[in-house]
Amino acid sequence: MTKFLIANWKMNPSSFNEAKNILDKVLKQNFSNKKIKTVICPPFVWMHGLINFSKNKIEFGAQNVFLKNSGPFTGEISPLMLKNLGIKYVILGHSERRENLFENDEMINLKIKIVLENKLIPVLCIGEKFEIRKKGIDQVKKFILNQIKQDLKNINLKYKNSKIILAYEPIWAISTSGIGTSENPIDASKIIEFIKKEVQKLGFKNNFVLYGGSVNSENILSFLSQKNIDGALVGGASIKLDEFSKMIQILNKKY
Ligand code: PGA
Repeated sequence: MTKFLIANWKMNPSSFNEAKNILDKVLKQNFSNKKIKTVICPPFVWMHGLINFSKNKIEFGAQNVFLKNSGPFTGEISPLMLKNLGIKYVILGHSERRENLFENDEMINLKIKIVLENKLIPVLCIGEKFEIRKKGIDQVKKFILNQIKQDLKNINLKYKNSKIILAYEPIWAISTSGIGTSENPIDASKIIEFIKKEVQKLGFKNNFVLYGGSVNSENILSFLSQKNIDGALVGGASIKLDEFSKMIQILNKKY
């Protein structure tokens, strides 16, 4: 069973040299273990240079994409451009975009559709605020089910065999915006089991569900050793020079 380790660099770092240094460290790791898929999602501006620098040793993803392939959309990046650049994955619906860029489920749904059309793999982020978590897991499930249903609505049957990734990221557990702690692995696993069932019910057989929110080298195994957690989406710890490499080493050793 594949385990995904996806690095979401967010709006970091602020120069290409720094980006190259982070990637350089990562590239020194061993990628011969086919059970582990490591994906780096840097800011758009560094992508081309980093892809060249990586010499195909590692796969890349984008942190967002526009919902059309070309046209008069000032400032946007299309899925076709990403595909032509060799990008394989696209993070969609991250809570920071839902919150700061006012992305709604309707928009995210359109993006998922065009990403699948372009044969890119969506990494759909879903997750609740602390107000909901405080009310218990049933409320979390209810909230998440609504996100899943809206974000994956009316997708053409021919894409139902495509690979899709979901990342369960409780907003309150994100290292920079949360309450300073990750979800506990047992509860994360219960919620992820629920997500998997619902996604299967919608017809997506080829799905993977990751956990995201304050994952680091100390806690990564406690999440990934839960049987239904297919990997981690890592933010803050993925741009710390040694942390991400350490996580790759830990996974290589365990799987
Ligand atoms: P974090 O971020 O690992 O810094 O909590 C995860 C994310 O927002 O994708």
